[in-house]
Amino acid sequence: MMSRTLTQFLIQERRRFPDASGEFNALILDIAMACKAIAKSVAFGELAGLHGNFAGDSSDSQTINVQGEVQKKLDVISNEVFIKMNEWAGHVAGMASEEMDEPYNLPEGQPRGHYLLVFDPLDGSSNIDVNVSVGSIFSVLRAPESAHNGRNVTAEDFLQPGTEQVAAGYALYGPTTMLILTVGRGVHGFTLDPNFGEFILTHPNIKVPETTKEFAINASNARFWEPPVKRYVDECLAGQTGPRGKDFNMRWIASMVAEAHRILMRGGVFLYPKDTKDITKPGRLRLMYEANPIGMIMEQAGGRASTGYGQILTVKPSALHQRIGLVFGSREEVELIERYHNNPPQGAREDDPSPLFATRSLFRD
Ligand code: F6P
Repeated sequence: MMSRTLTQFLIQERRRFPDASGEFNALILDIAMACKAIAKSVAFGELAGLHGNFAGDSSDSQTINVQGEVQKKLDVISNEVFIKMNEWAGHVAGMASEEMDEPYNLPEGQPRGHYLLVFDPLDGSSNIDVNVSVGSIFSVLRAPESAHNGRNVTAEDFLQPGTEQVAAGYALYGPTTMLILTVGRGVHGFTLDPNFGEFILTHPNIKVPETTKEFAINASNARFWEPPVKRYVDECLAGQTGPRGKDFNMRWIASMVAEAHRILMRGGVFLYPKDTKDITKPGRLRLMYEANPIGMIMEQAGGRASTGYGQILTVKPSALHQRIGLVFGSREEVELIERYHNNPPQGAREDDPSPLFATRSLFRD
């Protein structure tokens, strides 16, 4: 039998729900179309003058997004593509993006669907100009009935825990373009066939290996880490002669979506933990459009995603652009890191900088 296309896969999934209207499938296909368009722009790169920073109206030759990050031209283009591809068909009631301060309301008169779409249009975009893999991450939530019936969406509508996601996925623009998707029944990988312009199911039922010898962390932040993270990394570095009794390998691409993909394919653990680098930011990555969708994918693939202290997906969001500590990947490894956070070792030093380990810790009598 010929490999299934994404459309065929979605039709087959939908057969389990005879009453389904097709709206959800159509939304996923619109998202996939957006990803194909972004893949093209990424591939043309500087041939189309698409590398470099987005200047917008700024006289500074760069603009800064709501996150305080420099916007790349391709960040802005990818955001536009997501909006244009998803605003007209009546599948979403509103959208929210890393690149937009406020939720996006559909133009007056457009039909409003039953879903909310949240996305990071181009994750890892500092890698664009050096031609390293980047990707788009998305999360689908249900819209409140009133928003479906015409009320403008508010940030509050999106503040649902990750357990409420009905679908999540990412597209990776690497040597091949891939779409990784979960609709709540496992994780499936599709490769874009450049001849047909179709996503073809090439990686059904992906499973993250439970154990690993590979970790990913930005070690330049080591002096800002909390003791449990420091302990974990020290033990990995100690290798065979340390308490873990095995040698570890380390990777850092600085493109979370690419790290997630490596981990999905061959296991590993990724940490961008809460640290003390900037105490106004409880972590580097964003809950709604980075941690939650990647969290759902990891858990659907048998892995785990955590704040370090507990499951990411159960965190009740407090703001659209909320940041959070994120640890994900091979289940056993993430669980070990959680144990280090939740059960600090007996006799921890009194001068330990973390309140968790100090004499008057929350966890002491
Ligand atoms: O959006 C955040 C991001 O680009 C992630 O994709 C990546 O993991 C991280 O930032 C890189 O952070 P750093 O600059 O600390 O390496």
